Amino acid sequence: MIEVQNISKFSKSGRKLLNNISFTVKKGEFVGILGASGAGKTLTLRTLNRLLTPDEGVINFEMSPGIFKNISSVSKKELRAIRQKIGVIFQGYHLIQRSTVLENVLIGRIGSISTLRSIFYGFTDKEAAEAMVALQEVNMAEFANQKVASLSGGEKQRVAIARAIFQNPSLVLADEPISNLDPSNAKLIMKLIKALSDQIPVIGVFHQPLMTAKYCTRVIAIKEGQIVYDGHPNLSEEQLLDIYGLELEQLQQF
Ligand SMILES: Nc1ncnc2c1ncn2[C@@H]1O[C@H](COP(=O)(O)OP(=O)(O)OP(=O)(O)O)[C@@H](O)[C@H]1O
Ligand SMILES: [Mg+2]
Repeated sequence: MIEVQNISKFSKSGRKLLNNISFTVKKGEFVGILGASGAGKTLTLRTLNRLLTPDEGVINFEMSPGIFKNISSVSKKELRAIRQKIGVIFQGYHLIQRSTVLENVLIGRIGSISTLRSIFYGFTDKEAAEAMVALQEVNMAEFANQKVASLSGGEKQRVAIARAIFQNPSLVLADEPISNLDPSNAKLIMKLIKALSDQIPVIGVFHQPLMTAKYCTRVIAIKEGQIVYDGHPNLSEEQLLDIYGLELEQLQQF
């Protein structure tokens, strides 16, 4: 579970970038964050693994069952352990192109093994076997020894999901994970991300209201740094127009 309470963030010039954001996401939920460009979606997501420190508010993260940490105020040392429990999936994949698929999955646990071992990629056979299981879950096992650079966009995103699975996180964050993909790959990736939410809370930023309506259990809409909607993933045309304004017409809805 992750509990966000009254998060605010100001720019240097004093503009309120995030305005009193609050929400709680539990296991079994796949929350889609929608909103126009510049609304504050990425900033919100970045506060959840403290890539951005909020100026106000509290974020309680359940690292392991019953163990809560306030992400907004933990020490640097604790932050490392917390980030190891948060899987991230991005639009641009964030994979090491010159490394193999298997190595990229193994990197998911780099925060939990010693630096020396990580430098020499000293993973045990058991870890490699577990990484192969994660690759099987996204149907990428046959690519294990192939360099990531040679993969298609959909395949790369499946590797990123396998890496998150192997990391064994207590929360998964995804920022526009399907924005670079064609509709059939986007659907496949949505299904795989949704499957993660059976075990842990999943929060993703999307630009495709039809996809969030189909795959998410709940939608949160952000407008000008504030939550303007939090509820059922099916939004009416009127609600979407309120959220996106004139941008609605430009949205690719597939
Ligand atoms: N460090 C910063 N200082 C000042 N303004 C910032 C800073 N970082 C982001 N912003 C502004 O905060 C607003 C929200 O940015 P954010 O990246 O969250 O948008 P977004 O909703 O993810 O949009 P998009 O859909 O285009 O990715 C934007 O207006 C952005 O320019
Ligand atoms: Mg963004």
